[in-house]
Amino acid sequence: MNRLKVSGFIYGLLLVGFLPGCKKDFFVNENTIAITSKPTAYKLNLPKSFPPMKIPASNPLTNEGVALGKKLFYDPLLSSNNKQACGSCHQQNVSFVDSAVKFSKGVTGVLGGRNSMPIYNVGYAKAWFWDGRAKTLEEQVFHPITSQNEMNQDLEVLIDELNNSDEYKKMYTAAFGQGEITFDKTTKAIAQFMRTIIAYTPKPLDTSKLNASEKRGLLVFIDEKKGDCFHCHELGNFMTNYKFSNNGLNLNSINDPGLYAVTRNPEDLGKFKVPALINIKYTAPYMHDGRFKTLREVIDFYDTGFHFHPQTNYYLDPNLKKHFDNSTNKPTPRTWTEQDKQDIINFINGLVDESVNTNQIYSK
Ligand code: HEC
Ligand code: HEC
Repeated sequence: MNRLKVSGFIYGLLLVGFLPGCKKDFFVNENTIAITSKPTAYKLNLPKSFPPMKIPASNPLTNEGVALGKKLFYDPLLSSNNKQACGSCHQQNVSFVDSAVKFSKGVTGVLGGRNSMPIYNVGYAKAWFWDGRAKTLEEQVFHPITSQNEMNQDLEVLIDELNNSDEYKKMYTAAFGQGEITFDKTTKAIAQFMRTIIAYTPKPLDTSKLNASEKRGLLVFIDEKKGDCFHCHELGNFMTNYKFSNNGLNLNSINDPGLYAVTRNPEDLGKFKVPALINIKYTAPYMHDGRFKTLREVIDFYDTGFHFHPQTNYYLDPNLKKHFDNSTNKPTPRTWTEQDKQDIINFINGLVDESVNTNQIYSK
């Protein structure tokens, strides 16, 4: 008797205590659970020296959003012929650039006009693409999907295709709650995934991590009479100041005016995004047009190859202009030795974070 009473009491407690749980398990179908349960906040593991990442309030990082973004990033469904994914031109094993090519082929077989860019620490940039035409990372996603030279996709077709997939329906609902699959949600999810790709090397800030040649290379990098690179490729977490500048690649910037095409401000003629110097070892060829195959060619360019023309290239960055000799109309040869050049190359080649290329959390 007693026993029965007690166990009945316990049973009652259990029922009351776990009622919501039981309800979920037994009375609500799977889809409704996904609708009512909120996405979980994603824990972004940033290196200690990193500042907090500015994430738009309209698109917080969630586990479900990041997972959806990753699936979309690697899905060729996003292109018109269903053959090209973001990951086709941004391959993880080479820090998310298009492996060893100057220009990438779009779905129609046409080559684009710029070199693919690595995708790490992109959550810290202020504008995206070589010319900064995307003002948010969400907006950035729109460009390759719709560009004729890239994925050439009709957005209505894409949304239909996504709606035809039960798996995507579930994933969108888990990430963004009940409602239609929209392009807005698509760009948000992909942006979330990209914000989680972090590259970090302690070397620029902790010289004890450098070997002898890299240490000398660092000194050349910051020596204003030699490399003088650090004004733009700022020493620190990111190895860029995330600004746009004209480094004198062309005498005349008319073929690709860079930032000018976006702002129409003459001062922006020939300005391009200052690239981060991390994992450069993997991302050749270099520059917005992939003109240099090796770091040696890059160094020689900064030594004797950059251009200044008073009319057509007036806005050569002051940090390079000061190394230009107006009387000879040529760069002033720097005082760096052959050893200095080798050391600076070793320093840059040492700024690596292999985990970008290998970490499973970014993999297909
Ligand atoms: C056909 C090759 C190709 C495809 C496909 C492609 N990209 Fe790109 N991506 C590029 C090229 C080339 C650039 C540089 C373009 C420019 O600056 O005009 C670039 C630039 C970027 C950048 C700018 C990085 C920065 O630091 O500013 C991001 C982010 C990016 N792509 C993400 C994506 C995403 C997301 C997708 C899929 C929706 C995608 N890409 C599809 C070739 C491609
Ligand atoms: C005035 C600013 C400035 C200075 C100084 C400068 N750079 Fe650059 N660097 C840039 C810009 C801007 C680009 C991209 C230019 C483009 O592609 O149009 C670039 C590109 C590069 C690239 C190619 C990276 C890639 O992903 O394609 C390397 C490597 C590089 N610089 C190294 C150096 C070194 C080494 C020095 C010093 C000897 C140096 N830079 C000095 C602004 C600068």
